[in-house]
Amino acid sequence: MGLFSRHHDKLSEQVVLQALATVQEPELGGDLVSRKMIKNLVIEGDAVRFAVELTTPACPLKDQIQRACEEALEKIAGIPRNRVSIEFTAQVRPRGGIPEQVAIPGVSHVIAVSAGKGGVGKSTVAVNLAVALAREGAQVGLLDADVYGPSVPLMMGVRSQQPEAVSGPDGEPHMLPIEAHGIKMMSIGFLIDDRQPVIWRGPMVSQLLRQFLYQVLWAPLDYLIIDMPPGTGDIALTLAQSLQNAGLTGVVTVTTPQQVATADVLKSMEMFRKVNVPLLGIIENMAYFVAPDTGRRYDIFGAGGAARLAGQLGIPLLGQIPIGLSIREGGDQGQPAVLSDVPDAYADVFREIARKLAARISVMEHA
Ligand SMILES: Nc1ncnc2c1ncn2[C@@H]1O[C@H](COP(=O)(O)OP(=O)(O)OP(=O)(O)O)[C@@H](O)[C@H]1O
Ligand SMILES: [Mg+2]
Repeated sequence: MGLFSRHHDKLSEQVVLQALATVQEPELGGDLVSRKMIKNLVIEGDAVRFAVELTTPACPLKDQIQRACEEALEKIAGIPRNRVSIEFTAQVRPRGGIPEQVAIPGVSHVIAVSAGKGGVGKSTVAVNLAVALAREGAQVGLLDADVYGPSVPLMMGVRSQQPEAVSGPDGEPHMLPIEAHGIKMMSIGFLIDDRQPVIWRGPMVSQLLRQFLYQVLWAPLDYLIIDMPPGTGDIALTLAQSLQNAGLTGVVTVTTPQQVATADVLKSMEMFRKVNVPLLGIIENMAYFVAPDTGRRYDIFGAGGAARLAGQLGIPLLGQIPIGLSIREGGDQGQPAVLSDVPDAYADVFREIARKLAARISVMEHA
């Protein structure tokens, strides 16, 4: 590139950064330098020392990142491995203008369920995932952050209930979540008349979400599942940022197999990456239909879209949910399909996804 000659006897910061800029963050994409992950760079003679600041506290990819850095420094900057010292830190950085991270008391994991566009079954997945995790023995909450189209009350069969206001541990007013099917829930649908159109502007939505996160007595929870609003607009981005500040574990994205939907998913994934949210995986919904009379499978919306996308992003495809009458009926009747007590292929798919997701989270956090 002409900026550096290996024969210079002094290393420059620029050379080191140039080399590190070729190292990709294996999970989230982008290079270490432009993601601002390189900290405390010190050059002493022919030796270089720096820290790599990870976005998740226990990143399973440390070794891979270390090797890639050493390789790049050796090949591009001519620095031998024994002159390179790398430390890993995992501070979640406060971003410009946004308050520092404040975890939700007593909540271990916050998982956002998102989609690039509406109507792909995001709420159906969020609800069934929450119930599946609870049935595995976890303590689970479900926050309906889709203020424009809250579906949690209907899908969980609790439309007419209103949350009770109580005094929280700090003496401030809090809301008690509504409970059904072993899940603690909060939704704007519990607070307003659903016949009235809601016009929420960005700041109001963030304010409301903050209250839902911090002024609801969620604790103790293993998982708080968030049904996100669809899309990649300002509101979704602001929500993603507030959630990131609340200690978001990561996001799962729901898509149908269609190419169009997957293009939107890419945009939404990009949005989460921008705010450093780990991508936990993709769930393909309405993946196919098995005719109950003939057992024949039909790929109504095409096939392979989500698998391709998962491969492209280097994240797991957590599952493929078929189109099922009981899934739709369960949603409308407030009895999530996964509750089925008789052997049920649809329920099994949701259970499998819940297990895979829980496993992926524990690998991410404990590796
Ligand atoms: N796998 C499925 N099989 C059958 N019906 C499904 C399936 N997934 C979702 N549905 C139905 O499709 C409709 C839309 O699903 P849902 O409300 O979950 O989508 P959404 O992405 O949350 O939509 P919105 O963008 O409006 O929030 C619902 O009636 C739901 O019951
Ligand atoms: Mg929805």
